[in-house]
Amino acid sequence: MAIPQHISIIMDGNGRWARQQGKIRLFGHKAGKETVREVTTECAKIGVRYLSLFAFSEENWNRPADEVKGLMELMLKSMIGERDTMMKNNIRFRVIGNYAHLSETLLEAIRQLEADTAGNTRMTLILMLSYSGKWDLLQAARRFAADTLAAGRELPLDEDTFASYLATAGIPDPDLLIRTSGEQRISNYMLWQCAYTEFWYTPVLWPDFRTKDLQQAIDEFNKRQRRYGKVE
Ligand code: IPE
Ligand code: IPE
Ligand code: MG
Repeated sequence: MAIPQHISIIMDGNGRWARQQGKIRLFGHKAGKETVREVTTECAKIGVRYLSLFAFSEENWNRPADEVKGLMELMLKSMIGERDTMMKNNIRFRVIGNYAHLSETLLEAIRQLEADTAGNTRMTLILMLSYSGKWDLLQAARRFAADTLAAGRELPLDEDTFASYLATAGIPDPDLLIRTSGEQRISNYMLWQCAYTEFWYTPVLWPDFRTKDLQQAIDEFNKRQRRYGKVE
């Protein structure tokens, strides 16, 4: 059984899960946090090298203020509370997204956890926070344009060079993208990076997602034939 080098997950359905229980949406996000811990630990155990989790999109800032506030508090708490689990499991932690929208307190906690786990080697856990695919492409284009201007000449640009300007520079493209809650769309996620990623959807809501669901996704992945446009 081949284990994908990079698994990415659009963790969706927390709100619907909470509604099913007759609770407020934040209750679902809190339950989702438990799933994050279980899935992260399992991925590290089975040999996944990179696990990226879509936790909050640039568009999610448009949600009601109390939900956004609750989510950011949850993120902050996790940065502090999950440190031991990450150290114990030898997991390196990173956050990728538009830092301009994050509070200084949260940024400080992120920097701290990134620094504390920088030497860990088993798996890299990437939290995609305040991230969107179009934002990533734009910031890459802007930075490349700035470098061109600074150089005073047209700089060569190929796919590898462009990828090095993306926020995900240095991280291999996802092999497998999982989306929970039955939605079958990309929702402005890693648009460039998912060019040849295998997609797998499940109706299971994120707080209900378990190791067996992850295993099912990996089983499916193993049945796929990746052709990259070539003829087999
Ligand atoms: C995913 O769950 C978590 C975030 C987007 C922050 P949702 O909050 O989107 O849950 P649904 O889709 O409304 O059920
Ligand atoms: C995508 O879920 C973003 C995250 C899971 C963080 P959304 O719930 O925001 O996506 P849409 O609005 O259903 O496309
Ligand atoms: Mg959703």
